[in-house]
Amino acid sequence: MNSVRHRGTAHGDAELTPVSIVSDPMVDGLLMQVLITPEGRADPYPLYAQIRAAAPVCRTSFGPLVVSGYADCLAVLRDPRLGRGADGSRGGGLLPSGDGSSSRGEFFERSRHNMLLADPPDHTRLRQLVSRTFTPRRVDELRPAVQALVTQLLDDMAEAGEVEFMSAFALPLPMAVIGELVGVPAEERAVLQPLVRAVAKGIEPILTEEENQAAIAGIEELGGYFGDLLEERRRRPADDLLTGLAEARDRDDRLTDYEVVSTAILLFAAGFETTTNLLGNGLLALLRHPDQLAAWRADPGLGPTAVDELLRWDSPVQLNLRAALEPADLHGEPIEPGQRIIVLQGAANRDGLHFPEPETLDLARADNVPMSFGAGIHYCIGAALARMEADLALTGLLQRFETIELLDDEPEWRASFTLRGLLALPLRVH
Ligand code: HEM
Repeated sequence: MNSVRHRGTAHGDAELTPVSIVSDPMVDGLLMQVLITPEGRADPYPLYAQIRAAAPVCRTSFGPLVVSGYADCLAVLRDPRLGRGADGSRGGGLLPSGDGSSSRGEFFERSRHNMLLADPPDHTRLRQLVSRTFTPRRVDELRPAVQALVTQLLDDMAEAGEVEFMSAFALPLPMAVIGELVGVPAEERAVLQPLVRAVAKGIEPILTEEENQAAIAGIEELGGYFGDLLEERRRRPADDLLTGLAEARDRDDRLTDYEVVSTAILLFAAGFETTTNLLGNGLLALLRHPDQLAAWRADPGLGPTAVDELLRWDSPVQLNLRAALEPADLHGEPIEPGQRIIVLQGAANRDGLHFPEPETLDLARADNVPMSFGAGIHYCIGAALARMEADLALTGLLQRFETIELLDDEPEWRASFTLRGLLALPLRVH
C-alpha cells in the first residue's frame, strides 16, 4: 500500500514521492541495534540512516509502526487521531518484553495524570494550568537569574580546573532553574534527583522488571514529597508554581490532587533531565568540531542558531510514542485503533530530504526546526526555557575558557535511549 513522502524545506513546501509501509526484518534488527547495543547507544545515526533508507515507514514484527523521516514524524505528532492512549489497558510497553505486562501497565497508569501522557480534553485542561509560566516573554524575565547561576558555576569550574562536566555544570544549572520556578527548596533538589532518574527510566522502551519497579516506587515517593510540599504552600504561599497549582486546585474542583501533584513532578523532572543532556551532548559535539566551537567563540551572537543546531545534531530526546485513539491513516495507509507508532525524532533530525547536508554540524544553519521538542499539542512547554539556558550556558563557557580539553575521547553514554545523554564528561578547563 502506498504512502507519500515529503521532500520538504523548513517552511514545509513539499514535493511528494510515494513510499510503502513495509515489514522489513532488517529494520527490526537495526532498531534493536539502536536500542540495546553499546555501539548503537554510542552512535545511533548510521543505523538511523539505514532505517530511513530501507523504509521510512515500517511495520515491525512485534507490532508498532516505526517512522523515521522528518515529514512522517511531523505528520504523526500533529495528527489528533494519534495520541497517547496511555490508559493502562494498552500497557504503554513497546517491545514484546514489556508489552502487556501488568507492572508496565501500572507505571503508565500512575503516570497518566499529567499532560505528557494525557489526551484531550484532559491534556488541554492540564497544560493550560501552567502554560503561561513558560511563554517566551516570561522566560526572558528569568535571563538575569540564569546568567548569575551560570557565572557562579563557571567560577567553580575555573577554580577546580579539572571537572566532570555533567555533575559540575550540566545537571546543577537546569536543576536550580526549574527548582526555583517550581518551588523545590535548594537543599532538597539533589536528594530528589536519583528518584527522578528512576522514574524517567519508566518511559524507556526497554527496561528490566527491577527498573520498572524502581520507576513505580519513585513515582510513589515523589508523589508523597510533592503532596506534602503542596500542603505547605497552602499554609504558606510563595511566589512559585507550586503555590499556583495549590491555588488552582482549590479554585477548580475538576482538578484532582493527583493531577496537581503529577504536574509538579513532571515539570520538575522534565525541566532538568533533558536540558542537562542538551548541555552535555552539545558540548561534546562542539569539542568534536573545533571549527564550529571557534566560530561560536568568535561570535557569541551565534547562540540561538547554534543551540537549535546542537538540538538537531544530538537530540536529548530520541524517541516518542503515539497510539491510534480512533481509526486513522498514515498517508493513506489505514491504522487501527490501538496501533502504536514509534517516532524516531533523532532520525528525523538527520533526514536529508528535509535538512540540506544533514551530516554536517553547522551552527549558523538557517530555517532549522529540529524535531527535538516534538510537535503538535504535546510540543515541549519548556522549549524557550531550555533554549535560553543552553544559550547562556554554552556561550558563557566558550567566553570564559580559552581551552576546554576533553579528558576521555569516548565518554560513556547512559543506558537509556529515549533520553540520550552522557554518564560523565571529564574535562580540563583553562
Ligand atoms: C533540551 C531540553 C528539552 C527537550 C529536548 C525536551 C523535549 C520534549 C519533547 C520531545 C516533548 C514532547 C513529548 C511528546 O510529544 O509526547 C516535551 C514535552 C514536554 N516538556 Fe520538554 N524538553 C526539554 C526541556 C524542557 C524543560 C526545560 C521543561 C520545563 C518545564 C520541559 C517540560 C515539558 C513538558 C511539561 C512537556 C509536556 C507537554 C505536553 O504534553 O503538552 N521540557 N519535551
